[in-house]
Amino acid sequence: MAKMVHRLVLFFFTVLALPTEAQEMEHPPPPKAAPRVAVTGMSLPAPGGIMIFGATGGLGIEVARALVEQGTKVTAMVRPTSDASALVDMGVTLIEGDALSLDDVTRALSTSPLRAVISALGGRRGDYRVDIGGNKNVIDATRQLGIPRLVLVTAIGAGHGGPAAPWYIKYFMKEYFQAKTAAEITLQKSGLDYTIVRPGWLLNGEPTGTAKLSDAPEAFSWITRADLGRLIVSSIKDEATYNKALTAFDAELTSIFSVFR
Ligand SMILES: NC(=O)c1ccc[n+]([C@@H]2O[C@H](COP(=O)([O-])OP(=O)(O)OC[C@H]3O[C@@H](n4cnc5c(N)ncnc54)[C@H](OP(=O)(O)O)[C@@H]3O)[C@@H](O)[C@H]2O)c1
Repeated sequence: MAKMVHRLVLFFFTVLALPTEAQEMEHPPPPKAAPRVAVTGMSLPAPGGIMIFGATGGLGIEVARALVEQGTKVTAMVRPTSDASALVDMGVTLIEGDALSLDDVTRALSTSPLRAVISALGGRRGDYRVDIGGNKNVIDATRQLGIPRLVLVTAIGAGHGGPAAPWYIKYFMKEYFQAKTAAEITLQKSGLDYTIVRPGWLLNGEPTGTAKLSDAPEAFSWITRADLGRLIVSSIKDEATYNKALTAFDAELTSIFSVFR
């Protein structure tokens, strides 16, 4: 009987246990402690989407398009009177509000987790309240809600970029440049990780693909809204652009005849 039990034990050990052990030898178990990898802010997936102010404008639509193309969740605060049909077609989430109201801006920024804010707000026909007050609301609410990153569109000729703008533009648009400079100063003092993007004259039409962000304050060129939209989007993650005012410059579009392309 003892012999029988012994044989049975041997049988089970041979048939069942040994193959398992052999498999384990082929695929040794992982070490108990995995090797340590340095985790930086850049290697973590960025949580949250991106909010655009001024998304119904010519440039704002191109910014939204570039973000949607890369699969980013995009939200836009638009006025009830805005034509937002292009944004709806792209699947952008819309929140109604006026940038001149701090409450509206704060509510818009509170609706979902955000990792960055872009302001392409712009006043028209001599009314530049939104360039100063609207942008101030966006900057203040972004900071108060703890959203770390803000990209602001101003213009060549604002701030220390003053000398680069052609004299005729500066002469006729003095108040515009004062408004843009005021917004830049508010952002520079905010403590946010900011990028100020200063374009020259904006053009519609096909992108050239040759536009860049430059830290040469004397540079001036025309630029397509499509190229500028892509530059703005690529600046969001690019730490080399953090806390700088950069000129959006296209070496292909420096002639005044660029307007007719
Ligand atoms: N155009 C140029 O040649 C040029 C040159 C240099 C720099 N820039 C700057 O580039 C940016 C974009 O220019 P763009 O020509 O694309 O501008 P745009 O077409 O005039 O668009 C301006 C955007 O701001 C929004 N907006 C204005 N007031 C608002 C308010 N109170 N509340 C919420 N939204 C408001 C507009 O919304 P609605 O649709 O409701 O009006 C629109 O979405 C601006 O900052 C502009 O100053 C433009």
